Amino acid sequence: MSPTGRPPQPQPILPPPALAAVVLVLTVDPGGEDRIREVLEDLGAAVRTVASRITDANLRCVVGIGSDLWDRLFTGPRPRELHPFRELVGAVHTAVSTAGDLFVHLRAQRMDLCFELAHQLVDRLGPVARVVDEVQGFRYFDERDLLGFVDGTESPSGAAADFAAIIDDEDPDFAGGSYAIVQKYVHDLTAWNALTVEQQEQAVGRSKSDNVEQSDEQKASNAHIALNVLADDDGNQLQIVRANMPFGRVGESEFGTYFISYAAMASTTEQMLDNMFIGKPRGNHDRLLDFSTAVTGALFFVPSTDFLDDLPPKPGSPGGGSTSPA
Ligand code: HEM
Repeated sequence: MSPTGRPPQPQPILPPPALAAVVLVLTVDPGGEDRIREVLEDLGAAVRTVASRITDANLRCVVGIGSDLWDRLFTGPRPRELHPFRELVGAVHTAVSTAGDLFVHLRAQRMDLCFELAHQLVDRLGPVARVVDEVQGFRYFDERDLLGFVDGTESPSGAAADFAAIIDDEDPDFAGGSYAIVQKYVHDLTAWNALTVEQQEQAVGRSKSDNVEQSDEQKASNAHIALNVLADDDGNQLQIVRANMPFGRVGESEFGTYFISYAAMASTTEQMLDNMFIGKPRGNHDRLLDFSTAVTGALFFVPSTDFLDDLPPKPGSPGGGSTSPA
């Protein structure tokens, strides 16, 4: 509970689908911790300042913190499942693990607001942080990815999204938080477009034009959605909230999907990745991976807004303790 007695408020990780997004992944130089703490504490005001310029564009900002940076910024308990992204080496495909201390996810109904806030944040972080990945994403027709399929249909909404994405009893010290796992995928569109539509539908597990799920009899065991439906021991479906965005540069033949998942348990997304890359059963990897390569991979903890408003002491401060991980 927050000091006001209400549950800690999550960052805006569940807004309605946006038309535009900017994603930044940054690393933070040694010694830059104080500056990062200041920017985190001022984040709400920075977002309100830009959002107020066009209020109906619904600018939303989510910030996540990587495992190593967490220990450099704070003392006290740490989120139970916060660790560096674990590389997964399958027989054919690898989910790489790449650098990332901070994750910034900006969404709005217009790109200008995302761009403006990204610029202001990077100006403030600039002296101590490097942008190691930057993507501008866009809505592509009826929320399709650049492979041509509707992406996000079975991502939960409403109360189910809250349940899937926001920490509650799983880790009471960090209620209102969430785990973001992000991967930048680039597609081989030439190879993908050499498939028939039926072959593409077999890879995804849904029809392309009208987005209907294939029956269990039709669905291939290596179809993307066959490998991503998980259940716990009691048969309850384990879900994540996905906020994927297409991105690309035609002149560079770059066509991609920026995969972003928010989950109350990082292990749910990790199990899906395991199924995709190692395969279920082992060796039966996700057919989409034969056309889409993960070129980045990182895991961040997204604390509640209450946490950001009242950060724990920094290591080495009075009452703060040492810098070594708990
Ligand atoms: C190249 C990257 C990816 C693309 C293009 C992609 C695309 C899609 C598409 C088209 C669907 C079907 C419609 C829908 O329900 O959204 C889907 C479903 C899904 N994807 Fe992905 N996806 C990608 C990566 C991932 C990754 C890395 C994960 C998990 C770690 C994942 C998890 C899921 C889940 C859970 C579903 C819903 C399954 C269901 O309940 O039917 N996806 N994805």
